[in-house]
Amino acid sequence: MKRCAKCSQRAVVYLPHHRLALCKGHYLEWFERRVERTIKEFRMFSKEDRVLVAVSGGKDSLSLWHALHKLGYQADGLYINLGIGEYSKLSEEKAKKFAQGLGRTLHVIRLKDLVEDIPTLKEIEKRPACSVCGNLKRYYMNKSAKELGFSVIATGHNLDDESATLMGNVLSWNLGYLQRQYPVLKEGNGFVKKVKPLCLITEKESALYALLSGIDFVEEECPYSVGASSIEYKLLLSQIEEKSPGTKLRFYLEFLRKIQPLLRREESLELKPCSICGEPTSADVCTVCRLKQRLTLSEKGQGS
Ligand code: AMP
Ligand code: FES
Ligand code: ZN
Ligand code: ZN
Repeated sequence: MKRCAKCSQRAVVYLPHHRLALCKGHYLEWFERRVERTIKEFRMFSKEDRVLVAVSGGKDSLSLWHALHKLGYQADGLYINLGIGEYSKLSEEKAKKFAQGLGRTLHVIRLKDLVEDIPTLKEIEKRPACSVCGNLKRYYMNKSAKELGFSVIATGHNLDDESATLMGNVLSWNLGYLQRQYPVLKEGNGFVKKVKPLCLITEKESALYALLSGIDFVEEECPYSVGASSIEYKLLLSQIEEKSPGTKLRFYLEFLRKIQPLLRREESLELKPCSICGEPTSADVCTVCRLKQRLTLSEKGQGS
């Protein structure tokens, strides 16, 4: 039986890549400290900032909101209802219940009211649901944060997400994406600052934090995520991690330390306000307004 490195009580957690065994209380403390250190190291935000946490109802975003609240940050939530049947219904319920328990505000918006729900868009657009969904989530996170007066948006992306994305971008040497793959995206050009305070926390660690904190989260994954290449990469990286603990963290951190500074010297894309909605875009009309135009056209087509 392993003992807690801090207090010698029975350990409930062993973190191989940190060679650390901890009891429940010291694990929760370790997790919160690690989140706080990440926030400070990457200069994400301070206690004076109003932070909008994008919550999906899953373990990562709820653990993040919980930890930020415990650390004394001013954090409210934003839930985007995607209209994906039972999955969206359940995740909205869990997010609302969690917000109540925390005593913080959860802002809720519905894609169906703003554009159209994801299942309908998937059919009309004839492209993977996740690609349409990613576009819309990014757009409405940014727009809502500005409208609600928040200076920072925090998402629950964890180390598994970030290292899998990195692997995908490296395999195709997608320099544009690699350039923007950083835990902090600065404000400016119509964008609110975006941060990922869990980027050094693994999926297992955040699941454990949620379980030990008694957080009731949605366990199901989005039904459209099945077969996504990011899941393959996560699996592969986890197999390597199993054999050599610390691989994921090294892969991601060394990218941030050694490659990112080189990429960031390159000129970034010129952005301007969308001529219809005013949100930032590299084209004349942004992707969401173009999507809305296509929807209007297809409705007219059906009507005639
Ligand atoms: P995913 O893209 O599903 O892996 O989610 C990554 C992060 O995006 C989550 O940790 C949340 O912070 C945010 N997010 C995902 N889905 C939603 C949603 N429906 N509403 C608000 N934020 C979301
Ligand atoms: Fe957006 Fe699955 S399609 S979460
Ligand atoms: Zn202990
Ligand atoms: Zn627009």
